[in-house]
Amino acid sequence: MRSLVVVSNRLPELRSNRPQAGGLAIALSEALKEHTALWFGWSGRISKKTITRARLQHAQGIELASIPLNRADFDDYYLGYANEVLWPVFHFSLGAMDYRRSFVEAYYRVNRLFAAALQPLLTGHEFIWVHDYHLIPLGRELRARGVQQRVGFFLHTPFPSYGLVRAIPDHRQLLSDLCAYDLVGFQTVIDMHAFTESVIEAIGVQRVTDDQLRLGNHLLRTGVYPVGIDVDAVMATAHQALEIPRVKRLIAGLRKRHLIIGVDRLDYSKGLPQRFRAYEALLADYPSRRSETVFIQIASPSRTGIPEYDELRRNLEEMAGHINGEHAELDWVPIHYLNRTFDRSALAGLYRTARVGLVTPLRDGMNLVAKEFVAAQDPADPGVLVLSELAGAARELDDAVQVPPYDVDAIANGLDRALSMPLAERRQRHTRMLEIMRNNDLHTWQRRFLNDLSALKACSN
Ligand code: G6P
Repeated sequence: MRSLVVVSNRLPELRSNRPQAGGLAIALSEALKEHTALWFGWSGRISKKTITRARLQHAQGIELASIPLNRADFDDYYLGYANEVLWPVFHFSLGAMDYRRSFVEAYYRVNRLFAAALQPLLTGHEFIWVHDYHLIPLGRELRARGVQQRVGFFLHTPFPSYGLVRAIPDHRQLLSDLCAYDLVGFQTVIDMHAFTESVIEAIGVQRVTDDQLRLGNHLLRTGVYPVGIDVDAVMATAHQALEIPRVKRLIAGLRKRHLIIGVDRLDYSKGLPQRFRAYEALLADYPSRRSETVFIQIASPSRTGIPEYDELRRNLEEMAGHINGEHAELDWVPIHYLNRTFDRSALAGLYRTARVGLVTPLRDGMNLVAKEFVAAQDPADPGVLVLSELAGAARELDDAVQVPPYDVDAIANGLDRALSMPLAERRQRHTRMLEIMRNNDLHTWQRRFLNDLSALKACSN
């Protein structure tokens, strides 16, 4: 019998080997393999009309149910409210927010549409687990349709401090929507505290205990569940990936130079311009690093059509061209900037080949690239992770070389430290990070959340 229903805006590419960008789809598709589950979300298609009846498919043991979005909903709910209001504010980038009434209307309209299409598929016995900022009102919409079972919500992004939340004109509605869930999970304790402060200040929620809140008659649990990865699977993929012809060609082409690798969605929260400038500072300020390193930055296109994303793409192309023009030699090109998506095994091969993983988001909920980079290393001769202090992953990965992501010189210095780190220290740091990631892997993450959700059911039914 089905025990779980997962809802997210984005569904995974389960039926093909097509690459997928973005931590959420990757994390969930691995986690769900342990359950008899239904996964509901947007089909990824744009339809002419609004469709309320979900299409059902089976793939890799998971039942998928999806609906398309019409053009106005895609533009105003997905690009608009989710990615031009919530995403920038949740990533502390108020300047990138573009707020319009039509976005808010579409956001609530699509959440009602999701509830209307999902409700007929429910048996009444499953737990419902809703993911991410696209679907904050979904729990309340499901309750309004008579759905009784426990509904939990997990936020993959950071939760901003109250001072920022207040900039969203509808923040009170959003906060009370979040309080309609039975359990709300966050990546770090900082996010959870920011949420608690916001709901106490803005909508008069009462704190019962550190992780229990009350709004009227409703009791809400909060918790911290840092997303992990499937460590063994990444290790095995990385080992095998060395045999992939593309990866072999890359290794040959490096000609013993150290590879510095960055892999991100093309997003302004990832700190890519600062990263490019940091690499340029490394070349300028640490001359011995010139021509002994190659920096490959893969930036998979994302949310095209939003002006900030399109502008970032143009800026980075210009910056990479400028840095290469300034520093390249006839037999050495310092930056390789690839604006496309790669499959996960090729990426694992790149991670394993690299001496440094450069992961410097200005703000990130977790950042699974950081964890995958560590897992992909050869334990006998591991590379070093240079990690932003402001990524959620920095809370667990103390043994990364941590850098402040706005400080270009500090990142350059972190790169230099990573490149000169002796083997014994690299091994020691790698072993410790691997142990932490094993103790909180993907399976533990989903088990902890679902156990907490089911414990609530036992208490209150
Ligand atoms: C990243 C974020 C997730 C988010 C996803 C959406 O993975 O970490 O929080 O849900 O992007 O990406 P999309 O391509 O669907 O806009």
